[in-house]
Amino acid sequence: MTAGDDAPPPDMRRRGALIGLGAAALAGAGGFAFLRQSGAATVPRLGMPPLLDVRETRKIALRAQTGRTRFGAGRPSMTAGFNQSYLGPTIILPRGEVATDLRNALDEDVTVHWHGLLVPGEVDGGPHFPIAAGARRRGVLPVAQEPMTAWYHSHVHGATARHVYAGLAGIIHLVDGRDDERGLPSRYGIDDLTLILQDRRLDAEGRMVYDLTPTDILNGFHGNRIFVNGQIGATAAVPAGIVRLRILNASNARTYTLMFPDGRPLHLIATDAGYLPAPRDIRSLRIASGERAEVLVDFSDGAGGRMISGRGQIDILDFAVDPALAVRIDHLPDRIAPDLPPVGEVDGPTRRFALNTGGGAVSGGSAGHQGHQGHQGHGQALVATTGETASGSSHDLHDFAINGRVYDPARTDFDIARGTTERWVISGGAGGEHPFHVHGVHFRVTDEAGGMVRPENSGWKDTVLVAGQTEIVVRFDHPAPPDYPFMYHCHILEHEDAGMMGQFTVS
Ligand code: C2O
Ligand code: CU
Ligand code: CU
Repeated sequence: MTAGDDAPPPDMRRRGALIGLGAAALAGAGGFAFLRQSGAATVPRLGMPPLLDVRETRKIALRAQTGRTRFGAGRPSMTAGFNQSYLGPTIILPRGEVATDLRNALDEDVTVHWHGLLVPGEVDGGPHFPIAAGARRRGVLPVAQEPMTAWYHSHVHGATARHVYAGLAGIIHLVDGRDDERGLPSRYGIDDLTLILQDRRLDAEGRMVYDLTPTDILNGFHGNRIFVNGQIGATAAVPAGIVRLRILNASNARTYTLMFPDGRPLHLIATDAGYLPAPRDIRSLRIASGERAEVLVDFSDGAGGRMISGRGQIDILDFAVDPALAVRIDHLPDRIAPDLPPVGEVDGPTRRFALNTGGGAVSGGSAGHQGHQGHQGHGQALVATTGETASGSSHDLHDFAINGRVYDPARTDFDIARGTTERWVISGGAGGEHPFHVHGVHFRVTDEAGGMVRPENSGWKDTVLVAGQTEIVVRFDHPAPPDYPFMYHCHILEHEDAGMMGQFTVS
């Protein structure tokens, strides 16, 4: 990512000056870091989002703002971000109470949802918390959970897809300072890399556009270029040792199946909501919109590699070993965390959720027009369109629903008694795969399509890709009053905005 009107994120500039490649030489240009492979053309070096370390200050100050951002060699795009022109800073978050100070410099509502944080409904930042244009809101997050990679993003009903696409998202490292004891890499941007994966659609001049056709709503919006941390075609420089990748899928809809074609294993160490007891070797990692995963990759052979996504063999990111980067971790840890507790005893009802897309299976209610307004109505100002969006389309957006009910902010779908453990059975039917996310909880996956639970779903989760039918067991410990219910929804953002969402209270 290069900034148009705004300066490049300072962290990117700073680290650019530090690296020196042996076989590959550094050539800085305009504050940017480039890697020059011997004899070959230079390629941009992957930068990390700037840090917002709140371990001392205990205060998260974020300002939603518009910007102009140049992606690769393209012309500047209209974008939005937190504290910068595209995406937001990486928040290093400690446990305990942390104050939030959120400002909205956009000319429309925004929210800041803390995806993965177990906080009460009043501070969850979902669609019931719009911060008006020009407004400022303060709050306190009581953080009392295990280390994990979480994230934050805007969640204004009917506008979530457009907001996240424009750039209103960022990552959170919730830390406890014990990663050295665990034997895990922890040097930001050196052996602990943050990878925010997104696909975006660029027009012929390299400008990011968001034209939503009925097909894009049906399948979710898929782009024609892959961004990592808002950058195109960058190469990550890594030490010749064990490298940790914190991967966030912040795409609107795309699911990735990440792998190295050389067969190099990924050692899975964390799912959405925390560490696994020990690394699990996998050859490929499926990660859907909203999910996070942490893996260790061994680069001690000194050879770089190319990470691809299996479906369609899309190139995701190249890695180049920089011998000048000190190796701190040279072997895999045996043990990271205590064993996962057994899945809790279900003492509440079993609920069934059918995710409905198209096909006329759903009658739809009067609330069904909200998604439609969000998609095609007000406020296209954050991201450009080419004007080719099919307007007045006949596709029936009423068809996006859960159990036949289109999301209605005024309707509470059910109430749960605090402390209850429930089994939820989620089915996607023939309508494809849907990442199902629940606010305010972490859950365990107990069954996937009648079979084994994939390694990616073997730990604590808050989002799970449903293909066919998936069962989860979830305990509701955090309160959500009627004015501030928790959401459950498909994390394909176009589906969510069109009404594949519901809400519940916990009291
Ligand atoms: Cu990541 Cu309800 O969202
Ligand atoms: Cu969430
Ligand atoms: Cu969906």
